[in-house]
Amino acid sequence: MKRLFRVVCILFVMLPGTSEGQSNGVPPYKDSSLPVAQRVQDLLGRMTLEEKVAMLSGENWMQSVANKRLGIPSIKMTDGPAGIRSWAGPSHGADATAAKIEVHTTAFPAGIAMGATWDTDLLESQGHAIGQEEKALGRDMILGPTVNINRTPLWGRNFEAYGEDPYLTSRLAVAYIRGVQSEGVIATVKHFAANNQEFERHRINAEVDERALQEIYFPAFKAAVQEAQVWSLMSAYNRLNGTYCAENPRLLTDVLQKQWGFENFVVSDWGSTYSTVGTVNAGMDLEMPGGEPMKHWLKQPDSQAAGNGGGWLVPEKVLPEIKAGKISPTAIDDNVGRILRAIFISGQFDHPHTGGGEVDTPEQRAFVRKAATESIVLLKNSGDVLPLDPAKIRSVAVIGPDAAVAVTGGGGSSHVTSKYSITPLQGIQDRAGERVHVSYAPGVTMEGEGPSKENPAEREELRKEAVEAAGKADAAIVVVGRSPKLESEDFDIKSLDLPAGQDELIEAVAKANQNTVVVINAGGPVLMSKWITKVPAIVDMWYGGQEGGNAIAAILFGDANPSGKLPVSFVKRWEDSPAYGHYPGEHLTVEYAEGIYVGYRYFDKHSVDPLFPFGYGLSYTKFDYSDLKVSPSASVGKPAQVSLQVRNSGSRAGADVVELYVHDGHSTVDRPEKELKGFRRVTLAPGESKTVEFSLDPANLGYYSTAKKAWVTEPGQFDVLVGSSSRDIRVKGSFTLN
Ligand code: BGC
Repeated sequence: MKRLFRVVCILFVMLPGTSEGQSNGVPPYKDSSLPVAQRVQDLLGRMTLEEKVAMLSGENWMQSVANKRLGIPSIKMTDGPAGIRSWAGPSHGADATAAKIEVHTTAFPAGIAMGATWDTDLLESQGHAIGQEEKALGRDMILGPTVNINRTPLWGRNFEAYGEDPYLTSRLAVAYIRGVQSEGVIATVKHFAANNQEFERHRINAEVDERALQEIYFPAFKAAVQEAQVWSLMSAYNRLNGTYCAENPRLLTDVLQKQWGFENFVVSDWGSTYSTVGTVNAGMDLEMPGGEPMKHWLKQPDSQAAGNGGGWLVPEKVLPEIKAGKISPTAIDDNVGRILRAIFISGQFDHPHTGGGEVDTPEQRAFVRKAATESIVLLKNSGDVLPLDPAKIRSVAVIGPDAAVAVTGGGGSSHVTSKYSITPLQGIQDRAGERVHVSYAPGVTMEGEGPSKENPAEREELRKEAVEAAGKADAAIVVVGRSPKLESEDFDIKSLDLPAGQDELIEAVAKANQNTVVVINAGGPVLMSKWITKVPAIVDMWYGGQEGGNAIAAILFGDANPSGKLPVSFVKRWEDSPAYGHYPGEHLTVEYAEGIYVGYRYFDKHSVDPLFPFGYGLSYTKFDYSDLKVSPSASVGKPAQVSLQVRNSGSRAGADVVELYVHDGHSTVDRPEKELKGFRRVTLAPGESKTVEFSLDPANLGYYSTAKKAWVTEPGQFDVLVGSSSRDIRVKGSFTLN
């Protein structure tokens, strides 16, 4: 009898997926003490094929399908990455066709601004803050970070991502994801892969060689998967080397799953699927959106012409293919299993986010202000015009089309509707106080927003008013740049020139006031050759989120020392860009002919002088680098150790970003003159010194060999170049890899 009882008990434990598998009446998948893999298997064993297939496409615009019978929650998503996008507008809400609930959330600085901070701690804190807002709103998944590389300065979405360098992008993305996910919120690294232009984004085929993919376009995704264990990845709209990313087995099966070991789920970009069998079998797990909003979207008159996809993983399409033997039930289990895994591993199954918390808290506001301030890059400061000294400056003229509006971010799905936002004018007025008189004149209307282009008299009047204001003031601050209507998802930037009339405005103001400071409020480089020599100071504030105005005021008046560094090179003219001649492509194909030579790698190789190099940024104080020590040798498993002294030899406290580049001059293949392999942000009081240390693992110093289909680090001498920008190398050393 005892023996029989034991046999029954063993069976009880061995039969997950059946009611006999339950202990204390709790089925294993509901038991949070069990390993996730076991819970997933148990749950899959309880689901019908129809229930599984139902989970492959969304419930609506921003939610996955729930299963009430088994208690599987729906994953409730929101757009990112610079905060939580409001649900207002046609693309949000539980049902995009129903009435919308408008939500005001914290507008964080855009990705490019966060990139300019080179501050991984800051990015991790941003992730926490965003994760907390998601939970407060009862949502589960943020559609960010965007880690596509800035291949061309004309990409409409450059502002969302972290710039042109794969190492910088990887470090920042990993930090952001860790922050988000430690709040139990799913982060989504996007858009995999080679989504580097908006032009024809639903149809374009990016032809990219394997080495460029591995060295430039993949690393941030790989780091997100392997280092941050990201719970979700979004496939891109475009085709890569002939095949749509959402049905690309090379990308999703070979690289993502087999090479990198990704075990969580892939979500499609919205309306980026074009087949049923190929998509499911490649390992594209969740098609978004779904339900009525998808049908509605596909019925839009211009939808087909635009090449929109979607609607391919609905049960009506998937079930017949399973019946026909083209999709195996195991493939369905794999795909659904990955979605379930993320639901379990994120804790959302056991502790659903019920919402009801606070957003835009005083802590979030303080964080955004700090982040925006850190992101600002001082590009020029002749004669130390900056910082403005309120003891000497009694009047300031604030001029420009971006002065009295808060351009917090670019346009499209990342746009956040915040409760408030500070314009540069307001920030300057508040900081200037009673003693400094602040006047304001727009000078020109934003391109596309006013009648000035068609009306020369009015344009002239606006400019005259600005020139007069500038002439009467001790300093003129001209805030120029773009608007979300000119820089946005869905289309590329028309020109690198500042929008119409802004160059002329700067020139006119500079003539009237020798203390003219140009503030750039844009998501990427703009051309400056028409006026750069005519103004003493230029500052880039990017899109600084809701606190951008306070941040720029703090920098202009010297309350904060500028410490941002360019995450992207600024060209003198569009023709100097690496992608020039190979963008936006012909016959729906864009060839990445520059290969690995993107950004500073290109400028170094072709001896092109950028206007401002990658990694560049001035300061109100001065930092000296000395005592570089590099361990003479390194070997596999024994990284090279690097240290140096950094001293603040100026008279103000401030932070500097120390940049470490490596050059492999002995390689049997062509390699860049330098590649970023380390950076540290150091904050120093006047006169203070700190030791900065780096550890260089040889495994991270190689190139991707297409012949060997592997990363190769060749023994020999590696140069270590440490500096304050990619073109300002201050100390050099080397080590030998044995
Ligand atoms: C964008 C994604 C975004 C999605 C949902 C797409 O158009 O490319 O980045 O997350 O829409 O709004």
